Amino acid sequence: MIAWGGVGLALGAATAGGTAAALAGDGTEPAAGAAGEAVPFHGAHQAGIATAVQDRLHFAAFDVTTRDRAALARLLREWSAAAALMTQGRPVGGGAFGGLAEAPPDDTGEAIGLKPSRLTLTLGFGPSLFAEGRFGLERRRPEALVDLPKFPGDNLDPARSGGDLCVQACADDPQVAVHAIRNLARIGFGKVSVRWSQLGFGKTSSTTPEAQTPRNLFGFKDGTHNIAGTDDAALTKHVWVPSSDGPDWMVGGSYLVARRIRMHIETWDRTSLQEQEDVFGRDKGEGAPVGKAKEHDAPFLQAMLPTAHVRLAHPDSNGGARMLRRGYSFTDGTDGLGRLDAGLFFLAYQRDVRDAFIPVQRRLARQDALNEYIQHVGSAVFAIPPGLRDERDWWGRELFS
Ligand code: HEM
Repeated sequence: MIAWGGVGLALGAATAGGTAAALAGDGTEPAAGAAGEAVPFHGAHQAGIATAVQDRLHFAAFDVTTRDRAALARLLREWSAAAALMTQGRPVGGGAFGGLAEAPPDDTGEAIGLKPSRLTLTLGFGPSLFAEGRFGLERRRPEALVDLPKFPGDNLDPARSGGDLCVQACADDPQVAVHAIRNLARIGFGKVSVRWSQLGFGKTSSTTPEAQTPRNLFGFKDGTHNIAGTDDAALTKHVWVPSSDGPDWMVGGSYLVARRIRMHIETWDRTSLQEQEDVFGRDKGEGAPVGKAKEHDAPFLQAMLPTAHVRLAHPDSNGGARMLRRGYSFTDGTDGLGRLDAGLFFLAYQRDVRDAFIPVQRRLARQDALNEYIQHVGSAVFAIPPGLRDERDWWGRELFS
């Protein structure tokens, strides 16, 4: 693991196209970069996937309300231009002030004076966008963009599920992420409306193995065994869509599963430490697998209970299936029953959901000891197209051409 630190890691991050200024000064800077920096918007893959995970999230799913295909394509062009500006810390269009006094300003203004904060904006297309009779896209729907099956225990709220489009905004400053979603929604007025949105904090998965692994709301390290944003071989094998999979417009893209998972933290907090550690198959302090001393020691899965989360989710139990997890914690007030509405907004990127999320979640939904303490309450899946090549490129250019 030590080899992941320093120069090797920084170079890896640069090739993954993830972080800006991965290697700074004397070369000892962490790959995550300083919180204020800008992440390049253009590249082979969209930023916000392999990018070192930022601290905050504002995720929004949109319904497309216009029936006009050309208007939708125009909007995606406008969104691309606005995203290119905002990710570099610049205001949209003519800015928030100094323009025509008679017209509303182009930018809403609340990010004035704030740094780019490593803002990334990642756009996706939901299955419903490809429905017959909408935009003539039914034949262009990727085979891999399947509707997720119903899993045992799901208690999905339709108002927090699905969506024609999604935008994942990640930044180290929550105001920067919220500003970005707000401005995209404003630009889309009359053509799209926000279907649901989710704020997140305290990234629950790390994609930078040199950094301290963050903890989820159950107090356990989360992201110990994840696909690193610096691991080009694993990204190529498990995350990016290759040309052999097709369709052409998705090559270099990925598929995103978003699940709003309620965590019953009050029940968890009354559970013994032993039971908590048995549920995951790792210890709480160090994060080491059962019977091992260190967090990154290779797990011996048979030493864990057959119902342990890590044993069930591990690639060795799933024919080698892997995904890049990039979730965030949330607390959204109370549930009206005296408990916090808290949990994990699970985000996972993969080359094909049929080989990764679906089989893994099937196993977890049936056997995971964690199910006593969690419930999946929202769900969505999106096709994430590849990155934009340059300023002339736009989200959906190949899909709509
Ligand atoms: C609230 C729900 C969940 C919590 C609290 C949770 C927590 C954790 C924790 C603490 C670990 C061990 C550290 C690590 O390697 O990251 C882990 C591992 C993992 N989890 Fe989850 N998880 C949840 C839901 C899910 C779901 C829905 C999936 C996918 C369907 C999933 C897939 C994985 C995978 C693939 C690993 C790595 C296993 C390995 O290779 O060792 N988790 N999770």
